[in-house]
Amino acid sequence: MVKPPLRTLYGRRRGKPLRLGRRAALDSLLPALQVNPADHGAGALDPRVLFQATAGGVRGVWLEIGFGAGEHLAAMARAYPDIGFIGCEPFINGVARLLVEIEQGGLDNIRIVVDDAGLLLDCLTAGSIGRSFLLFPDPWPKRRHNKRRFVGARNITAMARVLTDGALWRMATDHRDYCRWMLDHMTTAADFDWLARRPGDWRLRPEDWPPTRYEGKGIAAGRPPVFLSFKRRPRKQP
Ligand SMILES: C[S@@+](CC[C@H](N)C(=O)[O-])C[C@H]1O[C@@H](n2cnc3c(N)ncnc32)[C@H](O)[C@@H]1O
Repeated sequence: MVKPPLRTLYGRRRGKPLRLGRRAALDSLLPALQVNPADHGAGALDPRVLFQATAGGVRGVWLEIGFGAGEHLAAMARAYPDIGFIGCEPFINGVARLLVEIEQGGLDNIRIVVDDAGLLLDCLTAGSIGRSFLLFPDPWPKRRHNKRRFVGARNITAMARVLTDGALWRMATDHRDYCRWMLDHMTTAADFDWLARRPGDWRLRPEDWPPTRYEGKGIAAGRPPVFLSFKRRPRKQP
């Protein structure tokens, strides 16, 4: 079998030294909540097994890529206690902030990958994720860096494999060129339909879509965000 090329993570894993409370949350909570893609074979991880300890069980698993400080992830986990959430974020300072939220909110339906989300996509079973979020991903504005963008042929194919038929993939950006790039890639992808019918559908954040820090930063800097929702097409029957 030909092995796929290795994945490269671009961006920071660490920032300023952590405050004591965040360090303590990292030490006490992360070991039980962390999922390490390297522990699982390609396409072998059924994400539901990660939520066996969640009260009442979960009716599905949703995924957030690059959750930053985790505001959206924590708000969604609070709003949907019967869904299991996996958040991927390689920046440990963001992970620590989310852990404080998890502790304070008593949330038991979040698991965390402290690494490239692509590694998780590669090890999940097919059709195992009911919804996915990619909010304000790093825009890599220089043309020679564009290929570092999360949205690209490899990750679109990987996401289509893990999403259930009809699943939503929500994306947001405040970067014009990345918006065009997202639309170019996603509207030509065989497995997705863009759900927008009128401008309000992409200019306005839907009510069940909590805001994030980077949305606020974009608005404050005069860069209005766009909110893009794509639906995974049903798989063709063999
Ligand atoms: C601009 S920030 C946006 C954070 C957050 N989504 C928000 O809206 O506030 C992009 C985040 O994506 C994370 N990131 C970058 N590459 C990633 C990857 N391959 N997998 C998962 N997260 C990634 C970065 O560490 C960073 O926290």
